[in-house]
Amino acid sequence: MADSGSKLHPLDLYDMTAAEPRLGSSNMVDTFSYDTLFSEGSTDTPLNPGLHAKYDFATAYPAPETLPLDGLIQSLQAAVDRDSTKVLAELAYYPHQLGALELREYTAEKLAADRGFTVTADEIALTNGSGEALGLVIQALTDPGDIVLAEEFVYMGTTSQLRRFGADVRGVAMDEGGIIPQALDEQVTALTAAGETPKYLYTIPEHQNPMGSTLSGERRKEILKIAHKHNLPILEDDCYVDLRYKGDVQPAFRALDDSGIVVYVASYSKLLAPGLRLGYFTASPELMRRALSFKLGSGPNQFAAVAIEGYLRNNLESHRDNFNPILEAKCDSMVVALEEHFGDSGATWSIPEGGCYVWLTMPESSDISTIRDKVFDQGVGYVAGPNFEADASGRIGKNCARLCFAFESVEKNAEGIALLAQLFKQHGAM
Ligand SMILES: Cc1ncc(COP(=O)(O)O)c(C=O)c1O
Repeated sequence: MADSGSKLHPLDLYDMTAAEPRLGSSNMVDTFSYDTLFSEGSTDTPLNPGLHAKYDFATAYPAPETLPLDGLIQSLQAAVDRDSTKVLAELAYYPHQLGALELREYTAEKLAADRGFTVTADEIALTNGSGEALGLVIQALTDPGDIVLAEEFVYMGTTSQLRRFGADVRGVAMDEGGIIPQALDEQVTALTAAGETPKYLYTIPEHQNPMGSTLSGERRKEILKIAHKHNLPILEDDCYVDLRYKGDVQPAFRALDDSGIVVYVASYSKLLAPGLRLGYFTASPELMRRALSFKLGSGPNQFAAVAIEGYLRNNLESHRDNFNPILEAKCDSMVVALEEHFGDSGATWSIPEGGCYVWLTMPESSDISTIRDKVFDQGVGYVAGPNFEADASGRIGKNCARLCFAFESVEKNAEGIALLAQLFKQHGAM
């Protein structure tokens, strides 16, 4: 509590833990009402309370223990030691609309080396996470009522942006290998015949969120042929590509096609840390200009960009070599625990080669979405299947859940899955 002689911060006037403000009611003003002033498009959406269950399989990023905090700080310091005037100038001005040049140059080199396609630094736009990149591209391509295709279960951050800008999202059939090309072809053909030609396809081809699947190179080539046949751009979200601990990396759609039909989006959130808020995209020049025309403000945080560039330029391989075996061990412990505790329940689960997620499918009669809150309160967090349904029909996901194995420790993954089985039994879901 500040004493009467010192300056008060506005929040010091209130005891945040008490029901009543500390100020006497005679000093209170009536609360201003915005009731008649809200825009039609605004919604009163509760803030995410940010709660974690004891065993948190809902949080969707790698564990903080892999975050290279010292390395990032040293990189920033090294950039200042090398050329403090340059770093100062970068901070003294608003960032370029495309973001810090050194990180764009590094990203272009990384894409050429890791993803096999060549773009210049000026063909890359850095964004506040890849979520912003996706939103900009969606705005440039979507009118209300447009049909947009996506995997039948897909990352809800993108579907909520798609719906926000009026898209009618339809799910494309998948199996454990991702989108089934023939099903895609048939669906687009049928929609077009019905006068409902879809506008574009959104896909997460590598370690898909939430199902953990990866599209083979063969399927990608088939999907590209279908895309050209139907004039259907592909919005490729390569957010998890660096998180591979098994098997071979598959070629990016963008590396298989130089025509401009592929828009490529990726992120430094999962490789390094989501709090850095650094993602990026590259697309054909006019689409990039139109997407960027929706950008509010300038490029993303320069400090973060300089730290990432310096750190990854010197440490990408060692970081991945440290990080991915940790992910693998965590995935293994969850999968082994699922075998032990769910083995004779009729459930199935995906076994990913990378990324953060195992997709659990209980028998169809089992509803694990309505018991999700109770299970959370009893100690295990997961995200229920209906949240990922592309078409939001609530028809196909109630017996499914996404389990993130990356956030908790190896031990907690095993303990949490044992408890999950116990709780499912207690609630009649198993
Ligand atoms: C598939 C996918 N794309 C994009 C994002 C957005 O990530 P960010 O905005 O942190 O780059 C996420 C985050 O979970 C994701 O899973």
